[in-house]
Amino acid sequence: MSGLILGIESSCDDTAAAVVDAHGRVLASVIASQTDIHAAHGGVYPELASRAHVQSIVRTVDRALADADVKGPDLRAIGVTRGPGLIGSLLVGLNTAQGLGLGWGVPVIGINHLRGHLRSADLEEARVRYPALVLLVSGGHTMLARMTSPRDIAVLGRTRDDSVGEAYDKVGRMLGLGYPGGPAVDRLAATGQATIAFPRPLLNEGFEFSFSGLKSSVARAVAQARAPDYADVAASFVAACLDVLMTKCRRALDGGDYASLVIVGGVAASKQLRERAGALCEDVGVALCLPPLRWSTDNAAMIALATWDYLALDAPPKPVAQTRLAIGDY
Ligand code: KG4
Ligand code: ZN
Repeated sequence: MSGLILGIESSCDDTAAAVVDAHGRVLASVIASQTDIHAAHGGVYPELASRAHVQSIVRTVDRALADADVKGPDLRAIGVTRGPGLIGSLLVGLNTAQGLGLGWGVPVIGINHLRGHLRSADLEEARVRYPALVLLVSGGHTMLARMTSPRDIAVLGRTRDDSVGEAYDKVGRMLGLGYPGGPAVDRLAATGQATIAFPRPLLNEGFEFSFSGLKSSVARAVAQARAPDYADVAASFVAACLDVLMTKCRRALDGGDYASLVIVGGVAASKQLRERAGALCEDVGVALCLPPLRWSTDNAAMIALATWDYLALDAPPKPVAQTRLAIGDY
């Protein structure tokens, strides 16, 4: 048996497989992206996503095993995303993992996708300094969590409605910037002035987030203005988002004993978010940990690393036949 875990991730629009050792070293990471398929629809189209996963999952897993030079039966375990995500997409990954696990005699462990994201900053090298405040800002999720060790995660707050990435994408669509809109909104915002006073939802209330009302405010502003300056709209929207994110991070950092602020998820690519987070961390006196973007966006290496945590907690792993993989109880 090798000391290697195969991770499989298919919760949304990327089919991913990766092989990771117990130290977080990534021997292989393969991602079959579906961006081109969904771009025509302006967003992820669930049925098309499931079909594309079916078409690419076997060769994605095969490629990862070949790149890592490991045979399936020699794996220590298979870790697979079991939720949250699109149900059809998740089932492709879960069924593939179950089938391979049974065939190879390797245990299969279901992993919460968010747990993978929260652990992603330690891939390749241990970057996180504990206790860490982790801000997850992706297309599907927005979450603030306190981590005192790789295994000890306490969720401080999540979004009550839209994720921040979803709001960026919807605003991008309103401004005619294509899909995904986040990077384009971020670039356009840098050229405008934050002249519109959009709301800062839940700014002074705990650690939960809400971006749906802000998104509607942007839609109203665009519809009502005679000739809206799109760069100013983007700048005002981004300023509102970042004020909320950074205010909550500052409040958590001020009230805790944190050694680092870790930011993961696709929106961490935002230049303005990076600048604001850098200034905040310097002010508060904690280290800023921004892992390489390839581990912040969806990938299977983060799922494999989170599987190692689970194995260490629950060793020895349960035989395949006893492994319960229900979508509903992630
Ligand atoms: O983590 P991710 O790749 O996928 C999910 O797990 O959801 O995040 C994708 C999100 C999209 O909403 C995309 O628009 C946003 O990240 N994003 C950005 C930037 N690059 C990607 N948002 C703002 N600025 C960027 N530069
Ligand atoms: Zn994700």
